[in-house]
Amino acid sequence: MAAGPLLIFDSGIGGLSVLDPIRRLLPNAPIVYAADSAGFPYGTKSAGEIAARLPALLGRLAERYDPSLIVIACNTASTIALDAVRAALDLPIVGTVPAIRPAALLSKTRAIGVLGTDATIVQPYVDRLAAEFAADCTIVRHSSAELVELAEAKLRGEPGERAAFARILDGLLSRPGGESVDTVVLACTHFPLVRAELEAAAPRPLAFVDGAEGIARRTADLARDLAWPDAPGGGRAVFTGAAALAEPYRQGLAGYGLSRIETL
Ligand code: DGL
Repeated sequence: MAAGPLLIFDSGIGGLSVLDPIRRLLPNAPIVYAADSAGFPYGTKSAGEIAARLPALLGRLAERYDPSLIVIACNTASTIALDAVRAALDLPIVGTVPAIRPAALLSKTRAIGVLGTDATIVQPYVDRLAAEFAADCTIVRHSSAELVELAEAKLRGEPGERAAFARILDGLLSRPGGESVDTVVLACTHFPLVRAELEAAAPRPLAFVDGAEGIARRTADLARDLAWPDAPGGGRAVFTGAAALAEPYRQGLAGYGLSRIETL
C-alpha cells in the first residue's frame, strides 16, 4: 500500500522554502502543503495562542490527509508548540529551529544575527541553542513582521522595494553588537524566500543561513522506509481560511508544483 503524503505546515507560504529541498531529496513523495491562512501571522501572536491552536489544527489536517509524516516548517510554531504537537499526534513530526548551530560554524567575527518573528526571538529555545552551539558568539536578535509580509507579497507577484529590505537589515545591524555581525540566521521560514533581496540590500557581505537543508535531510531519513509510487509525487495546497485568501497565490504555488488548492 502506498504511504500517505508528507504534510508540510506553516502559518503562510514560508514553508515553501523547506518544500524545495524536501522535493529534491524525495521527488516521489506526494506533498500536502498546509498554510494556516486563518491564523496568519503567527509572529505577532502570543505563545499561549499558538500553543493552544497548533495541536488541534494539525490533528484536523492529519485526519483529513492521513500523512505519513508532518514537517512543521515554521520556526514560530516549532519553538513554541513542537512538544505539544508531538504529545497530541501519533505521527513522526519534524520541527524547525533557528539555524544557530550552522551559523556558529561559519561566523569568523563570532557575532551572529538572528532575524526571526517577534514570537520566535524571545523563546527560551533560542537561548538554549545559543548556549549549546554558540557560547563564544555574540547573538544579536531582531524581529520583523514586515519581512514576513514582503515574502508573502513576493509569491503574489508583488516585489518589495530594495529600501524596505535595507531598512530591515539596518534594524538588525544597528543593534548593540550588530556592527560585528557577519552571519545572519534566517530564523523564519519566510525569509529564505527573499534571500536574494536581502543579499542585494546588505550594506556589506553577510552570510545568510537557514535550516531548510537540514530539515529536508531529517525528513528523508525518517521517510526512508516509506513506499511511494515510482513517479513524481505531485502536490496540493490547503489553506485554512476562506478560498478567496488563497486566490492571489495560485500562480506562485503552481511554480512549486502545487496546482490544486483546497480549503480546510
Ligand atoms: N514562517 C513562520 C516562521 O518560520 C512565521 C511567519 C508568521 O506567521 O509570522 O516563523
